Amino acid sequence: MDSHKKRVLSGIQPSGNLTIGNYIGALRQWVEEQEHYECYFCIVDLHAITVPQNPVALRNKTQEVAALYIASGLDPDKVTIFIQSHVTAHAELGWILTCLSPLGWLYRMTQFKDKAAKQQQESVGAGLLNYPALMAADILLYQAHAVPVGDDQRQHLEFTRDLAQRFNSLYGETFVIPEVMIPKAGARIMGLDNPTAKMSKSEDSEYHAVYMLDSPAQVKKKIMRAVTDSLAEIRFSDDPERAGINNLLTIYQALSGRTTNEVAQQFEGKGYGDLKKAVVEQVNSHLEPLQTRYNQLMREAGYLDDILAKGAEKAAETAERTLNTVKERIGFVPGKPRR
Ligand code: TRP
Repeated sequence: MDSHKKRVLSGIQPSGNLTIGNYIGALRQWVEEQEHYECYFCIVDLHAITVPQNPVALRNKTQEVAALYIASGLDPDKVTIFIQSHVTAHAELGWILTCLSPLGWLYRMTQFKDKAAKQQQESVGAGLLNYPALMAADILLYQAHAVPVGDDQRQHLEFTRDLAQRFNSLYGETFVIPEVMIPKAGARIMGLDNPTAKMSKSEDSEYHAVYMLDSPAQVKKKIMRAVTDSLAEIRFSDDPERAGINNLLTIYQALSGRTTNEVAQQFEGKGYGDLKKAVVEQVNSHLEPLQTRYNQLMREAGYLDDILAKGAEKAAETAERTLNTVKERIGFVPGKPRR
């Protein structure tokens, strides 16, 4: 791998079903980034268990997400794709960074507050609070320069930078301070049933999200039902009242590759039904080849496992180099090399 390229790391939790929001806002951007950076993309199963998971579902979703990375166009010969729990350095550095994380910083995280509020106070696991320290470990182990994430992860990135600086000033320059990389405008996809909230893969309601593995009929049903307004005018807008139409236009624009102006012109004077039909066609024409690749991958038993094994090996090599430096700096006695 090119050592002069800047490094990128990102990850998605294997919980829920990946949506076209994940595709447009993350995966498609990663596919572009793989040409310019040395990339590490993981499936963050250690993060997934910060809330209760069913073991069978967790296992299946982890493999599904890995296959969807590849089906979306990530090339295992160009990027390192791995499962977080396969590289034990994540849990190890996660612990060390947990010990360096002030409780005040952790309690301030809005994701913690939101997720904790959804559970009985007594049953909230400590992992949910320590989640950002583990995420910092994911990033810092690879000395990543840039971390592509959605806007909702900005605070966790700030936390990571603060923690890295704290470590560096306590123990000497060790970590690269990572930059957040928020996707270009227009890559933030909102819920179809509630276009003022980000499209989520862990929302129960049936008409909230289009999943990457939805059938053409499901895609159609969901998009035709998407919430709009009664103004009967199609244009991009940041008025919350118009968020539904804006979201459909955004999806169309992102997938068609046309400019905002071209899209605005194309739909000027058209009806909402026309726009919805055009969105259905765009989405299905992207998902069809992707699902074909996905099904091929899932049929070839062993192929995915091999990619993930190779990915874990490459990731571990990079990660352990950082981890060993950290252990030495904080005063751990080096273990005798095994074998
Ligand atoms: N917290 C991220 C999310 O929910 C997932 C994640 C975990 C992540 N570790 C990461 C993203 C490291 C980027 C880099 O979306």
